[in-house]
Formats: sequence, C-alpha cells, structure tokens
Amino acid sequence: MNLQHIIDETFAELEPRRGCGAVADYIPALANVDPGKFGVALATKDGATYCAGDAGEAFSIQSISKVFVLALALDRHGPRLWDRVGREPSGDPFNSIVQLEREKGIPRNPFINAGAIVTTDHLVDDRSHDVAIDELVALLRKMARDDAVHVDPEVARSESKAGARNRSLAYFMESFDRLRNPVETVLAAYFRQCALALSCKQLAEAALFLAFDGTDPVTREVVTSTARCRRINALMLTCGHYDNSGEFAFEVGFCGKSGVGGGILAVVPNKATIAVWSPGLNEAGTSELGALALRKIAEKTGWSIF
Ligand code: DON
Repeated sequence: MNLQHIIDETFAELEPRRGCGAVADYIPALANVDPGKFGVALATKDGATYCAGDAGEAFSIQSISKVFVLALALDRHGPRLWDRVGREPSGDPFNSIVQLEREKGIPRNPFINAGAIVTTDHLVDDRSHDVAIDELVALLRKMARDDAVHVDPEVARSESKAGARNRSLAYFMESFDRLRNPVETVLAAYFRQCALALSCKQLAEAALFLAFDGTDPVTREVVTSTARCRRINALMLTCGHYDNSGEFAFEVGFCGKSGVGGGILAVVPNKATIAVWSPGLNEAGTSELGALALRKIAEKTGWSIF
C-alpha cells in the first residue's frame, strides 16, 4: 500500500473544502487562527511519517492532551483513578455540568472537561503545576523526538481568562471533595496542558505508542502497559468525541480524540497513528474537514477497526 499516495490523494480531494466548519472562539486566542489551515500526518512503526499540507505547523492540541495526561495519571495511580472518574460516554457536550450534580461530582469519563480536570489533578499529585506540566512536555518531546514541543503561553493565558466554565466544573467537584489538590493549582495545569502546541507530524509520532500496545515501536520506549494502552484506546473510541463519538465510530472506525483547536488524533491499533488539523469545527467541537479526511483514509486503507 502506498501510504504517501493515500495521504496526498486525501489531501487533494479535500483541499477545496479548506475553511469549512466554525473556528472555536470561546477561547479568544484560538479565534485568531487561520481557518484555511489543513494538515495530515500518518506515522507507522518503521519510523516513517507521511505528511501533506500544513502537517509541519504547530497548532493548539487542546483536548487531545487529555489522552497523554490519562496515560501519565494511570501510571502514577493505577486503577484508583477510576474511583474519581467513570468510563462511560456522557452523551453531553464536552463542557457540560449537568451530570455532575446527579452523579455526586464524579465525571462520566476522563475526556469530558470535568473528567480531564480530575485526571490532571492526579497528574499534579501534590506537586506544583509547573512540575506536572514539565513531566508532560518532557514525555511529548521524547516521544515526538523533537524539543520544539511547547506550551503556548498566550493560549494558556487566554484559556484561564475565559475559564469560567472550567472553574465552575472544578469548584463544583471540589464541593463534593473530589479533588486532591487546590482547585487553582489543578486548573493552572489543565489550562497549560490544553495550550500545548504540536504539529500533526509531532502529534502522530508522539502518540505511536498507543497503536503499539504502549511501547513506541521506533524507540522501544515503554510508555504504558499493554492493558492500559488498550483501555485508553477503548475510551478514545467510546468517549473521544463527546456527544459525537458514536458518529465518529460509525463514519470513521478509528479510536480518536478531538480538540477544539481543530486537531484530531486517530489511533489504528497495530497499524498507525494519524493526526489531522483543520480549525473549523462541527457542533460537537470536532474538526469537520479533519473527520472527513480520516473517513477517507479509513476507506482507502481499509483500516477501520470494525
Ligand atoms: O477546556 C476547554 O474547553 C478547552 N481547553 C478544551 C476543550 C476541547 O478541546 C474539546 N474538544 N473537542
């Protein structure tokens, strides 16, 4: 199979639709991004990465960071993490608060914002938010084999300034005594992890361990255990696109995680990782062109996991 040809063909077929969807503007720093950006990168176990378009340009990975934080938090705390966060799809938007009251401050899953704040709380783990985020950045730099991976300070500031909803979620959980660290420490870490800037190429390469049972096939670095890796992928499939997860599984058939910066990370177990970026979103906060690109790649490769 000529993967570069598939990536080039997918890009060419969709290029006329650059700019579709609506750029997120509830975080002011994201509203300034050029809606015409479009990048695709596919990484395989032999160390090759096939790229098209703006695949080399860093963008705000936003909620895609929740996957890496989950891997680190699980490694720190093991299954005790699941006492504080569930593993069921919510069927609600990513920043919804409605289930939190009925379910006594335990978010449905680690990918909705409330659940991710709990996961970040477990990454912070009695340390400062700087130390926790340094650990996350170091992991991503190592896995992407690129020290350019960084947190964009302007996006982090903008997230914090526009962070009323996330503050509400965090303080509401605090009212049920569900957080281990001071709320503002956890939020400072959460806002910074969302502001991580990676290119499609860096993201696909950094996530390769998820497609290969927790071990990076290129560096042989063990990031997490096989069992944990499979469970992270299961959560990406069932919850990775919030109230759009069923549709993404139906149309694309890859494990995936979206971010409101317009990135989507797709994991195809035992085959590859694919990162796409196009800032225009659908109503659930998933990149519209990105999801179409992944659907085409699934069709052309025959790699749907179903
Ligand atoms: O906390 C937020 O609302 C954003 N920093 C991240 C949300 C997000 O990326 C949802 N994904 N599609």
